[in-house]
Amino acid sequence: MNATDHFKKVISHCKEYGYIFPSSEIYDGLSAVYDYGSYGVELKNNLKTYWWRAMVQMHENIVGLDSAIFMHPKIWKASGHVDAFNDPLIDNKDSKKRYRADVLIEEYLNKLDDKINKEVEKAAKRFGESFDVNMFRSTNPRVAEYAEKRRSVADRYVRAAETDNLAELKSIIEDCEIADPETGSRNWTDVRQFNLMFATQFGALAGSETEDAKVYLRPETAQGIFVNFLNVQKSTRQKIPFGIAQIGKAFRNEIIARQFIFRMREFEQMEMQFFVRPGSEMEWYKHWKETRMAWHRSIFPAARLRFHDHEKLAHYANAALDIEFDFPFGFKELEGIHSRTDFDLGNHQQLSGKKMQYFDPELNESYVPYVVETSVGVDRLFLAVVSSCLVDEKVPDAKGEDATRTVMKIPAFLAPIKAAILPLVNKEELTVEARAIFDRLKMVAQCQYDAKDAIGRRYRRQDAIGTPYCITVDFETLEDRCVTVRNRDTLQQERVAIDTLPAHLAALLAASC
Ligand code: GAP
Repeated sequence: MNATDHFKKVISHCKEYGYIFPSSEIYDGLSAVYDYGSYGVELKNNLKTYWWRAMVQMHENIVGLDSAIFMHPKIWKASGHVDAFNDPLIDNKDSKKRYRADVLIEEYLNKLDDKINKEVEKAAKRFGESFDVNMFRSTNPRVAEYAEKRRSVADRYVRAAETDNLAELKSIIEDCEIADPETGSRNWTDVRQFNLMFATQFGALAGSETEDAKVYLRPETAQGIFVNFLNVQKSTRQKIPFGIAQIGKAFRNEIIARQFIFRMREFEQMEMQFFVRPGSEMEWYKHWKETRMAWHRSIFPAARLRFHDHEKLAHYANAALDIEFDFPFGFKELEGIHSRTDFDLGNHQQLSGKKMQYFDPELNESYVPYVVETSVGVDRLFLAVVSSCLVDEKVPDAKGEDATRTVMKIPAFLAPIKAAILPLVNKEELTVEARAIFDRLKMVAQCQYDAKDAIGRRYRRQDAIGTPYCITVDFETLEDRCVTVRNRDTLQQERVAIDTLPAHLAALLAASC
């Protein structure tokens, strides 16, 4: 199955098996907004808990926060979002499709990278062991041509983006003959800026047209952390370096809202701001870059993850990179690591007139700390999990419609349902026993009882949901007080004594993380 078909299958599977539904579906949906179904919310909660444990529970010097979504409108002025949280949009006059001009150019640069890599791969095959990759890159005329083109376009792009030169962005698109990815048309409008924040009116001021009445739905959770930095530091008696972590909703009026839950208008972020001494930020930036990559590698194979340094830095950063994941539509940003300097705290100090300084007892001086941020989208993480774990595979020794199965191979510690308790048939002597086992195991983990349909169909359903263990109660159980535990991935079955089941399940789950 090719990547596009696989992606379509992921979307339909998520709907059929209660992971994700389009929002407001009976009214034909709401673009780029999704609801999480019963299994989806379990997976989402497990991802959030796994992150929280790694970031907060495992670090003495990181503490949590849950700040409000609504915040004083001046916060977004100080943070730069009112003036600079814009995307450059461009329309194709023929297809009437809307695109981000910066994304069109970055995709063009990625294509040049791909061309260079293909030349290198071809040559490596041709020359075998004697191949010197550095020598080839510096001497091959075709590679040199692509590399020069890439450098000159990237330089123009970074300059145009940094100076908000929208006319130059359009010129780059025209000069590089970038076409509408869906139709091939090159008939473009001018590039315009589009602010991504959603605004609404507040309380008694609603209806008034003044700017004062305007409040924004937060476009990132980070600002709630910045404005509470001293409250948290003082109440938890933290010393620098220390971090504040938060999980919460964020809202962006995205221009292109395609690719399922990859780019949503309402989404969830898991962010951590790490406050450090000025001058030490690059050391911590490196630390968090490695630490966060190691965390992702505890879920995904290393080959599906990579770093990507930003060509163009956000208005608040002096260094930034993405951890990218190999989604069905290619490598794209999963998490951002940013060195935000003292930009946010400094601006809040200036605009609020309140000191945002920390007194460092070791240096005996006060300063505005520098900040290194880690920021990962829960929904993107969710998409990375479901798209990499959903597989169709052959069942050994099976025939007919049983010869293949669809399995969601989510690691057991993240799986929505850890064990399904299944009476072999829907007969009272077995269902009573199975219910009693379910009542004991639900104290250990999220379990499900299911007695409907033939046992083979129930196994298939649990495979599709991603349940790592099926526990079957059969007639032998009534004699030997044992049940069959079926492993989703290996399909191996073992007999386990009912009395040891809670400890057995707990051990299996603990071993999976
Ligand atoms: N506080 C920094 C910040 O918000 P960002 O790179 O704009 O940085 C961080 O966003 C992460 O939030 C991204 O890596 C992505 O996982 C997630 N994210 C951003 N916009 C999103 C959207 N429209 N839909 C889903 N996730 C999004």
